[in-house]
Amino acid sequence: MNGRGFAVACANIALAKYWGKCDEALNLPAVPSVSVTLDALVTETEVVVDPALAADLFTLGGVAQDGGAVRKVSEFLDLLHGGAPRECARVTSHNRFPSSSGLASSASGFAALAAASARAYGLDRTTAELSALARRGSASAARSLYGGFVELPAGTPGDGSLAARPLHDADWWDVRVVIAMVTKAPKDIASRDGMRRTTRTSPYWDAWLACAPGYARTVREGVARRDLEAVGAAMEASTCAMHASAWAAVPAVRYIRGVTLDALDRVEALRREGTGAWATMDAGPHVKVLCAAADAARVAEAMRSAPGVVDVRVAKPGPGIVET
Ligand code: DP6
Repeated sequence: MNGRGFAVACANIALAKYWGKCDEALNLPAVPSVSVTLDALVTETEVVVDPALAADLFTLGGVAQDGGAVRKVSEFLDLLHGGAPRECARVTSHNRFPSSSGLASSASGFAALAAASARAYGLDRTTAELSALARRGSASAARSLYGGFVELPAGTPGDGSLAARPLHDADWWDVRVVIAMVTKAPKDIASRDGMRRTTRTSPYWDAWLACAPGYARTVREGVARRDLEAVGAAMEASTCAMHASAWAAVPAVRYIRGVTLDALDRVEALRREGTGAWATMDAGPHVKVLCAAADAARVAEAMRSAPGVVDVRVAKPGPGIVET
């Protein structure tokens, strides 16, 4: 056994959204999704196996975690071992951006944890196997094992081997994602709970299932042609359909706030003025704007002055998992 593993993973933003599962136990997505891994949102995780420990320890951003957060990490380490007995570990993780605020920290978090823990326990895993493992923690995490542009197909109930697959490296397309943060507070509804409620109660769930694969195809083909307008339009349509299906759940799952709408108005205004800019939101109120590298400074400036925006970051396509 190696005893120690360290991994750095970047978060990713879905250009075609994953929302809802076809198998909750295996955490298999009901729809295909396509993402871009982002260099600006980074999680660093160290796992040290310590036979002297009676329980796993998890520190996030310098703060010792308890309850549910530690349980999630322990369950993940159990999954890595397929339920076989294992020694406990000390897991130390750091996000270089706000955790649990809809900025995809679970994606980079579980991707880094998958790679660092496999290394620490001396388990030899391929990137595809790590992607399938990370998917159990958070399906979007499966995509963060790879850099650049990545696809996670829809799952087949009962098939736990589903992994993401890389489409194009980070240097395939010089786009930017301008991240406009509208709050630093933690989000209200965890994406897992939001998905469950949408699947079970939303009258628009079937409509989402029907339209999501088409958006994923359009995005995949648009990325292959480097067609920003096609990708941007399909990304916005996928985003709106996802949020509409969630909003129609009972009670409503609503991540969009007033400040989100103000930021969306700003993106529309940019387009009216002739700048190619398209917006997406995840399980939180922040707005992420896809644009060409040459327009990033203008888009960032426009978003910075939108009402309610507290911070703006510009990200470009980033690398896959890095282990040491
Ligand atoms: C809206 O991957 O966080 O960001 O698998 O339940 O952990 P779980 O969900 P998670 O959901 C991400 C949803 C999304 C869209 C996306 O990233 O595709």
